[in-house]
Amino acid sequence: MSSDLRRDIFRGLYNPIYRGEKPETESQPKHSPILSCWFRLPRRQNILAFLAVLCFFTFMWHAPQISHKNFLPESLTPPILITHKAPPPHFQDNPPIATLTAQEKQNHLLALARNLSSTPFPQHIYQTWKTISLVCDEAYDCQNSWFRKNPSHEYTFLTDKSALDYVVENFNASDPFIVHLFRNFPQRILAADILRYLVVYKNGGLYTDIDTECNKPVDEWLKNATASKPDIDLSGVNVVVGMELDVVNRTQYPDRWLVERIYKNRIQFLQWTLYAKPGHEIFRRMIMSIQDSAKEDISKTAKKSISQVRYTQTEILDKTGPFKWTEVIMGYINDIEGRKVEMEEYSGIEGSRKIGDVLFLPVNSWSPGMNHSHAGSDETSFVIHHFGGTWKLEFEKHDSDSD
Ligand SMILES: *[C@@H]1O[C@H](CO)[C@@H](O)[C@H](O)[C@H]1NC(C)=O
Ligand SMILES: *[C@@H]1O[C@H](CO)[C@@H](O)[C@H](O)[C@H]1NC(C)=O
Ligand SMILES: *[C@@H]1O[C@H](CO)[C@@H](O)[C@H](O)[C@H]1NC(C)=O
Ligand SMILES: *[C@@H]1O[C@H](CO)[C@@H](O)[C@H](O)[C@H]1NC(C)=O
Ligand SMILES: *[C@@H]1O[C@H](CO)[C@@H](O)[C@H](O)[C@H]1NC(C)=O
Repeated sequence: MSSDLRRDIFRGLYNPIYRGEKPETESQPKHSPILSCWFRLPRRQNILAFLAVLCFFTFMWHAPQISHKNFLPESLTPPILITHKAPPPHFQDNPPIATLTAQEKQNHLLALARNLSSTPFPQHIYQTWKTISLVCDEAYDCQNSWFRKNPSHEYTFLTDKSALDYVVENFNASDPFIVHLFRNFPQRILAADILRYLVVYKNGGLYTDIDTECNKPVDEWLKNATASKPDIDLSGVNVVVGMELDVVNRTQYPDRWLVERIYKNRIQFLQWTLYAKPGHEIFRRMIMSIQDSAKEDISKTAKKSISQVRYTQTEILDKTGPFKWTEVIMGYINDIEGRKVEMEEYSGIEGSRKIGDVLFLPVNSWSPGMNHSHAGSDETSFVIHHFGGTWKLEFEKHDSDSD
């Protein structure tokens, strides 16, 4: 800025106002242009100009001691970047939830939800795969559907390598243990689960698995889902949760039916697509729960090392997958509602249902084509999950390669 100032001052000296009556083309003395200009000034201007130059050099002399912040007028201070409200720097609850009464807990969660309601859903889509090369053409078609249908959304693709950089950069300073888990879980499916919760917790927006297809622009989802629900106030929605299982009827679906298909609850929320505002309590609880159970499981191994921690398929669902995700969401809903919300209250949703600050979508929205769970056709769904597709086998092969 000092060079700007200098330029302005010289511009002032050359200004015709300071040059007196005589046209400039007259006698060209042998002085340099600045000095010639100087000598042609009338006496009063001469003194003023001298004082100006003196002031200028005095200022330059002291400039290093003048802090920019105090010196610059407000309009010149760098603009404060208004981004989404930063989530808390670590995953510890404050105040510790366990020490609160049910009423205090509810008030705390309601306050958190109110605070977040002024934040918009970030327009950002995240996907991840091991490398930038996907397994087949259909996978590229799916990936394309996300940026083709959502041109106003930012799109971030994380590979194994850039995902590790992302996790280290954002969490190593405050939470080295989650970085340790992300880096060292021998079964990489666990790390893939952890990543989605971390990304949506830290940045908010949409996470969706690489085998999903966008069937309707993200910005239309909430409007479409609440079209028949005028009483739902969308400004109070901070998280959108999709369902993959809704079989509360015990006559129609006996326990055996669930066991055979490896389901734990009659309502199951899916985590292949996640959509939330940044810093939401559900994601904080999910990440804390993963850390707590990992600590315990590590301590049970002979070498007290994460490299010895191995889970069965059901245990994975129970530690980082949809079983735990469902449990954490239902626990949160009970706390913010201040009552036990029964399974049946999540069942038979049409369009959407808001409980607490969470908007629940029916099975069909993000998981169409199931024969059970009141799911309909793909036509009206927002997301299509290709886990039934032939190329799922390819994904599974890749997954087991890395185990
Ligand atoms: C909500 O925001 C207000 C103002 O920023 C803050 O004082 C308060 O602690 C926040 N409440 C919670 C529960 O974080
Ligand atoms: C992560 O943080 C720990 C200290 O908690 C430090 O020793 C380590 O070097 C950091 N790792 C990276 C990759 O920055
Ligand atoms: C549960 O399923 C049975 C058998 O399909 C049916 O007869 C019954 O009406 C269902 N109950 C409810 C509450 O939908
Ligand atoms: C759904 O039902 C159809 C016909 O009833 C059957 O062919 C298909 O295999 C079922 N799909 C699943 C995933 O169960
Ligand atoms: C919601 O989406 C369905 C299927 O695309 C469409 O038929 C319906 O008109 C939409 N409703 C609104 C209110 O956008």
